[in-house]
Amino acid sequence: MPETSVDSPMINAIGVHKRFGALEVLRGVDLTVQRGEVVAVLGASGSGKSTLLRCLNHLETVDRGTIQIAGDTLVADDGQGGVRYPADAEVRRVCRHTGMVFQHFNLFPHLTVLQNLIEAPITVKKMPRGEATALAERLLAKVGLADKRDAYPNRLSGGQKQRVAIARALAMQPEVLLFDEPTSALDPELTGEVLRTMRELAQERMTMLVVTHEMAFAREVAHRVVFMDGGQIVEDRPAKDFFADPRHERARAFLEHML
Ligand SMILES: Nc1ncnc2c1ncn2[C@@H]1O[C@H](COP(=O)(O)OP(=O)(O)OP(=O)(O)O)[C@@H](O)[C@H]1O
Ligand SMILES: [Mg+2]
Repeated sequence: MPETSVDSPMINAIGVHKRFGALEVLRGVDLTVQRGEVVAVLGASGSGKSTLLRCLNHLETVDRGTIQIAGDTLVADDGQGGVRYPADAEVRRVCRHTGMVFQHFNLFPHLTVLQNLIEAPITVKKMPRGEATALAERLLAKVGLADKRDAYPNRLSGGQKQRVAIARALAMQPEVLLFDEPTSALDPELTGEVLRTMRELAQERMTMLVVTHEMAFAREVAHRVVFMDGGQIVEDRPAKDFFADPRHERARAFLEHML
């Protein structure tokens, strides 16, 4: 089994290409995210942000390129215009380095909050139920929802659902969290509580890659901004430099529209 090196970047993507039929959605994406870094992914609709995240978490396969997560290879360029994925068990193991938080929460509606949190640790990680429950309770307290332990998701506000979804991702003890527009489905008054939780995770040095339209979050919490256009990263800079002086013409237009 490959060794995970503490010195490896948490995410290392090189030359990633992805097409859906005739549509080339990722056109050679290079992205490195270091341990403890918070990176915001910005870009217009259709620029490939979600597809990039989904490739990193193996919800989509790539056509070309190499992806390493925490030093382990998820997919490698085969040098002949294609790629090589390791055996399924190894792919699953590498994927457990990452957790994903979706725009629409994706909680299991027929399970209570606690059951949502312990399901994967028990079934996937074979964690003893008592240990999984204790961990879940700690995480619910952390996101401020200890009292919702036995509620069903349909009894929660959108902001509460998203905090449960974050706790559920954390219950698998991933090394990096991928967020795809975690506040886009929320009413404005509920986004603050989710952003506060994410800010706390950032302060704890959780590695996070966050697709977001929350410019305040990107500006205040992200260390770096990557801006995507047409399936490529066209700007990758410290957040404060990006916001002070976006270089790419599409990034400028995007910011003018957003602010
Ligand atoms: N499963 C799919 N099959 C076919 N085309 C797809 C699929 N998923 C995404 N696409 C297309 O790929 C392109 C990039 O989509 P993607 O969802 O990655 O964009 P995005 O940057 O996340 O956009 P948004 O800001 O609207 O979420 C779009 O043209 C989209 O229609
Ligand atoms: Mg998207």
